[in-house]
Amino acid sequence: MIPLSLAQIARVCGGELRGEPDAVVSGEVVIDSRRVGAGGLFAAVAGDRADGHDFAAAAVAAGAVAVLATRPVPVPSVLVADVPAALAALARYVVDALPAARIAGITGSAGKTSTKDLAAQLTERLGPTIAPAGSFNNEFGHPLTVLRADTSTGYLVLELSARGIGHIAYLCDIAPPRYGVVLNVGHAHAGEFGGLDQVAQAKGELVEALPADGVAILNADDPRVAAMASRTRARVVTFAVADPGAVVRAAGMRLDDLGRPRFTLLTPEGSAPVALRLHGAHNVPNALAAAALARELGLSLDGVADGLGAAVARSRWRMEVRRRPDGVTVINDAYNANPESVRAALDALAHLAQDGRGFAVLGHMAELGDTSRASHEEIGEYAARVSDSGLAGLIAVGGEAAPLLDGVRRVPSWTGEALAAPDGAVALDMLANRLKPGDVVLVKASRAVGLEGVAAALLGEAVR
Ligand SMILES: Nc1ncnc2c1ncn2[C@@H]1O[C@H](COP(=O)(O)OP(=O)(O)OP(=O)(O)O)[C@@H](O)[C@H]1O
Ligand SMILES: [Mg+2]
Repeated sequence: MIPLSLAQIARVCGGELRGEPDAVVSGEVVIDSRRVGAGGLFAAVAGDRADGHDFAAAAVAAGAVAVLATRPVPVPSVLVADVPAALAALARYVVDALPAARIAGITGSAGKTSTKDLAAQLTERLGPTIAPAGSFNNEFGHPLTVLRADTSTGYLVLELSARGIGHIAYLCDIAPPRYGVVLNVGHAHAGEFGGLDQVAQAKGELVEALPADGVAILNADDPRVAAMASRTRARVVTFAVADPGAVVRAAGMRLDDLGRPRFTLLTPEGSAPVALRLHGAHNVPNALAAAALARELGLSLDGVADGLGAAVARSRWRMEVRRRPDGVTVINDAYNANPESVRAALDALAHLAQDGRGFAVLGHMAELGDTSRASHEEIGEYAARVSDSGLAGLIAVGGEAAPLLDGVRRVPSWTGEALAAPDGAVALDMLANRLKPGDVVLVKASRAVGLEGVAAALLGEAVR
């Protein structure tokens, strides 16, 4: 963070200073007391399991200059009414003090983290970049990420997530983006929103927040995203896998034997071959979005193509493909699940298993609201159809995933096994009896199901 005195911090946050006004915070702002470093600021948050205020003294002992708190603590502090609001105000103050830092926001229903990680690996070729770790993108993670910026920062590549109307507008107020990328409008959290039109309304807040000299980078293949062009003052740049009219495109896409896409990147400046290290065809639109952003920021076509080819998966449990010594391949996509991302993963499974047998270990997709049962049935049906004969088994983990099995039974031509496992341990037992060299196992569910343990056990690893 840029150095700020406690007096400045108290003023910016509208807080009450209880400490030395001239003491300077120059280190990171954190909410996890174990991550406090010298010169930092510890923001005390009351969570479900622990109250940060109880760690105020330990944070200062570990090097924090002071604590941002909502009630008195026995160490130097700035008392505020609301910690997220204080972090937001502080983050906005910091970005306003860094006008040279270029701010990009990325939103969409699926692929934000993957695209953010790709885009950051491109902007790092242009200059020092701040991007959140993983999906650290809510009302805490977003300002804390922004607060890491300092005078050396050239680029902020931010992931903006929403669970309701107004959330993205709020995040855009904290760090006003000049570049806004919208990937897709899908069913993730659609239950909380009320439907896809509401999801589109919420995601479009990003392009509404862009200034007239900004750039809205929109997926021309998604009609709800393309329609956002009318909601922005910014210049619109499109990317697409299918739409031939888009500015940044891919041609000749194919997947290698591990499901890694290769394609020709087409831009107004020319074309270049790209071989991604990421798995799954769904990473092509993500790569095009990152390319379109980096191109606007001034990265050359060669730089974009090289950068995409060099980029690795920085965030865990998204389409991690590993082959065991016995020749069984495990796809760990256990980070989360919604209809679009399960379809994408089943497509990848069908590709990887084209010469062998595929098994899908699926837990339920959370937060789908009224359409939940129907969505699970549709995905079960899709699993049975997409794989033709390749899917040897679908294991539904947990009672809430059971409608997946009703879906597969709708496909009478499917000859695979439909199995119900009450938990991951039973799913592992089922697989142990069945897996042979050459088989491919996909493991995927919503975050709360925690199926990464199943993937780790299949690979003989402890959960990282
Ligand atoms: N463009 C895409 N279309 C469909 N599925 C995708 C796409 N990109 C990524 N996915 C899949 O969606 C899941 C989540 O990916 P990622 O973490 O990048 O998305 P996210 O939007 O950041 O999710 P969250 O809302 O949980 O932060 C993974 O299973 C990934 O393989
Ligand atoms: Mg994410």
